[in-house]
Amino acid sequence: MQQHHHERVSFGSKIGAILAAAGSAVGLGNIWRFPYETGNHGGAAFILIYLGCVFIFGLPIMMAEFTIGRRSKASTGGAYRVLAPGTPWKWVGYLGVLTGFLILGYYTVVAGWTLEYIFQAATLGFSGKSPNDFITMFQHFSQDPLRPLIWLFIFMFATHFIVVRGVKDGIEKSSKVMMPVLFILVVLLAICSLTLPGAEKGVEFLLKPDFSKVTADVFLGAMGQAFFSLSLGMGCLSTYASYFGKDTRLGHTAMSVGVIDTCVAVLAGLIIFPAAFAVGIQPDAGPSLIFITLPNVFQQAFAGVPVLSYVCSVAFYVLLALAALTSTISLHEVSTAFLHEKFGFTRTRAASLVTTGSLLIGVVSSLALGEWSTYTIAGMNVFDALDYLTAKIMLPVSGMFAALFVGWVLDRKIVRGEATNYGTLKSSYYPLYILILKFVAPIGIVLIFVNELGLLG
Ligand code: PHE
Repeated sequence: MQQHHHERVSFGSKIGAILAAAGSAVGLGNIWRFPYETGNHGGAAFILIYLGCVFIFGLPIMMAEFTIGRRSKASTGGAYRVLAPGTPWKWVGYLGVLTGFLILGYYTVVAGWTLEYIFQAATLGFSGKSPNDFITMFQHFSQDPLRPLIWLFIFMFATHFIVVRGVKDGIEKSSKVMMPVLFILVVLLAICSLTLPGAEKGVEFLLKPDFSKVTADVFLGAMGQAFFSLSLGMGCLSTYASYFGKDTRLGHTAMSVGVIDTCVAVLAGLIIFPAAFAVGIQPDAGPSLIFITLPNVFQQAFAGVPVLSYVCSVAFYVLLALAALTSTISLHEVSTAFLHEKFGFTRTRAASLVTTGSLLIGVVSSLALGEWSTYTIAGMNVFDALDYLTAKIMLPVSGMFAALFVGWVLDRKIVRGEATNYGTLKSSYYPLYILILKFVAPIGIVLIFVNELGLLG
């Protein structure tokens, strides 16, 4: 591996590191995917299983990724080669890079939609529309051969621009500005939504479990969602961890990221469901929930106060765009850092290659929703197929390998050293952490897969 000879760049502060990692985690997964998965899988019961997945699988695997990244001081594509030279483990790293690259392509399509919706909301494009108008508006827009592509390009260039500025001045600085703004917006919007008459029904849907809806599919959904939402299983966080300083506490950072991510997801639910129930809309609208249901909800809910519906709509889509941007940056960084380290390209050159490649995937997945929707893989259009393949299969698989690697292969002294900052921190959870990495997480992931295959077959 052609390692860089200069000192590795690092985040400037511990809080910067936490915010960057939380920025990666908090994204469309929390505000777009989590509410519709919850809506489709029966509300509170899904959330409970999801929380179980976050704490039992998610956080220990996040720690494992942090360990791999900080110890190797290499991006995920090179980390396994540094830690286990000459073994096939390097393929796990490459799988991670590929997964991230594929996700970046279709993720940026949806990220681009948020820009169209900011534009529509800000130019009064929502006012006076009926529920049906919103359906047509979304269908026309997402199936249009050109308009979504323009936003896709704009979003990708914004991402590119920040990544090119580097780890400290680009990624860390932008996260430090965007994350607090994002947090304030989620809280304010949730308060607005909760004060609507009839909001209790939405809260009940989110907090009162109905276990009759729980099937194996719900487990797979919850696990896929946990991996996706925490940015696990593709080396995003291990790449970021390679920029962590020596005194960054890995356990504390993982816990902070997990808690922030879960809070934002639940708050997003508290924005969407109370508002949807308040105007009598069913919560299981699927992926279009926030692009069809929600604009309509804002219109109706604050019908008496147009200013409020205007401000809420704009604020919501700005929130969504910010959340998406901190995530596309992290996805982009995985491939950029890999090309930069492995082939010795400058960051700018590496980033340009990544941008070009992922734009191609983006264009194909965007067109797959309109013009090219007749091309299908296993009955899904290319966009849905990419989402299924990456979130439900590739992320859990490579997450499982990360757990196995740190649990079984990596020298125990290194694992313990990284978890305790070489003896300076307490390690009361250490045995439990190892137990989960060695057995619980891998077996759990395999069981969920077997079950799913059984269902399919
Ligand atoms: N965690 C991000 C979200 O919730 C998506 C993501 C997945 C980002 C994997 C990076 C890596 O939207």
